[in-house]
Amino acid sequence: MDKLLILDFGSQTTQLIARRIRDLGVYTEILPGDAPLPPGDPGLRGIVLSGSPESVYTPEGAVPDPAVYACGLPLLGICYGLQRMTHDQGGLVEPLPKREYGAVAVTVTGAAGEAASPQGERIRNFLAGFDPALPLRAFTGGAPLPASPPPHVFTAWMSHGDTLTRLAPGFREYGRSATGYPAVVIHEQEPWFGLQFHPEVTHCERGPEILAGFVFGVCRCKAEWSMEHYIEAVRSSLTERVGRNPVLLLISGGVDSTVAGALLLKTLDADQVHLMYMDTGLMRKDETRTVKAALERLGARHLHLIHCEAEFLGALRLLTDPEEKRKAIGDLFITIQERELGRLGLPDSYFLAQGTLYTDLIESGKGVGKKAHVIKSHHNVGSPLVEAKRRGGRIIEPLDRLYKDEVRRLGRLLALDEAVVRRHPFPGPGLAVRIIGEVTREKCDILREADAIFIEELKKRPAPGQQVDGPPVRSLYDDMWQAFAVLLPVRSVGVAGDVRKYGWVLALRAITSVDGMTADVYPFPPKDLLEISTLITNAVPEIGRVTYDISSKPPATIEWE
Ligand code: XMP
Repeated sequence: MDKLLILDFGSQTTQLIARRIRDLGVYTEILPGDAPLPPGDPGLRGIVLSGSPESVYTPEGAVPDPAVYACGLPLLGICYGLQRMTHDQGGLVEPLPKREYGAVAVTVTGAAGEAASPQGERIRNFLAGFDPALPLRAFTGGAPLPASPPPHVFTAWMSHGDTLTRLAPGFREYGRSATGYPAVVIHEQEPWFGLQFHPEVTHCERGPEILAGFVFGVCRCKAEWSMEHYIEAVRSSLTERVGRNPVLLLISGGVDSTVAGALLLKTLDADQVHLMYMDTGLMRKDETRTVKAALERLGARHLHLIHCEAEFLGALRLLTDPEEKRKAIGDLFITIQERELGRLGLPDSYFLAQGTLYTDLIESGKGVGKKAHVIKSHHNVGSPLVEAKRRGGRIIEPLDRLYKDEVRRLGRLLALDEAVVRRHPFPGPGLAVRIIGEVTREKCDILREADAIFIEELKKRPAPGQQVDGPPVRSLYDDMWQAFAVLLPVRSVGVAGDVRKYGWVLALRAITSVDGMTADVYPFPPKDLLEISTLITNAVPEIGRVTYDISSKPPATIEWE
């Protein structure tokens, strides 16, 4: 399969470059900016050099493997990527008097008199990306691209503190920003292209077409990346690796592990697939029932449901410190996992499957991308079982090439229930980190009920700007990255009839985010918020007061504990 490599020099938008190109139907992989170029990959068609918060002249600015320039593949430098190419090839990069940030008009010289050479043709195809007359489908259809007459003016999106003050030998400027800096730079002979702006950012006009000009017009990629293709690739690799051995997957109830379960059931014999699910008593309302029904509908034959609410609540008794609570839960997961595995009596040769995503690999710094951001504390991380299976080469991670929204697309293709596929993320320790202070069964029930009303209402109500009559096209729930309720260890005074009463305080949290690393408060329509608050206090008498959390991340985190 054709693919592009993205060298990550640390820009926050590296992931976006990968996503945008995948959306064009071409597979992408990310490697650290200074990683050695993997030898002899027949599918590799081109390399993108990402942006960076660093400068080419600071020691932190990573330098690509010289093989990148020697391999003969097309290169696209974006922002730092272009500056890097310029610096490495003998040009000059210097700081701007003032950092340039945001929308900037760029004038592009169209292709006109380029030599009739392979690079002349590539230049014409690349510049077609800027032609306002060409729709995106003109690039993906495989038909020849017309040469675009000059000049085109479009709104680019910039974020740079340095600029090119002298092009490297062999390069020519094809576009300049209204602020007077080189914005599109191309080599006359080598297949090297550079953009000072960020085509991957949605605010950049013609961003997808500009990337498509490179991906299809220059690199000649075929659009072969689809979820159907992915299922077939997983099927052949699993058949080869796993053979007839059993595979065990621990299902958490979240989207990732449930889709991983559906994928195993689709690609292996259902008799090989063992799914283990622990009902810790810390799940959302109806979670166990929904997941069980979804997996049975897909043909699960060995679904091991373990009811261990009493054990978890027992372990959490009197604990109020968040870290102690998390540790107690993590330890108990491991103990129960080992005990129940013993009961299953699988042969030692079994494989352990995990719902790890591409972004999890990046977050935990396991060799993809440059930056190891936040390590997700997941109940599987560090488990002795996982470690032993990893040492024995018996871990399979069938979603580890996918982004979250691709996982959702895959779930739909595998006919998983929409309710499961659309679900917002849920932390491994469940409601325990949303009940501040000590966790009791009564508090779990109160929170479960209030949270269910909140979520149900979000799913019913249209997002701002959607039609009000009939089922909403896009609900408030779909508009948010994550929403949930938190039960605070605070009672506040209220009145019920003529009686003063003390009810618990509930906080509602709703955020928008791209990846959970940072989050913004959802601008909740006030009318919906007020109505939902009333519905909750009417239906859950133990709750006397509802508040809305208006903290972004940072400085707050998404969860409260
Ligand atoms: P924070 O609270 O760190 O959350 O801003 C970021 C995202 O991660 C989820 N989260 C967890 N997920 N195990 C998980 O699998 C955990 O222990 C855990 N803690 C937080 C959180 O719901 C949010 O989506």
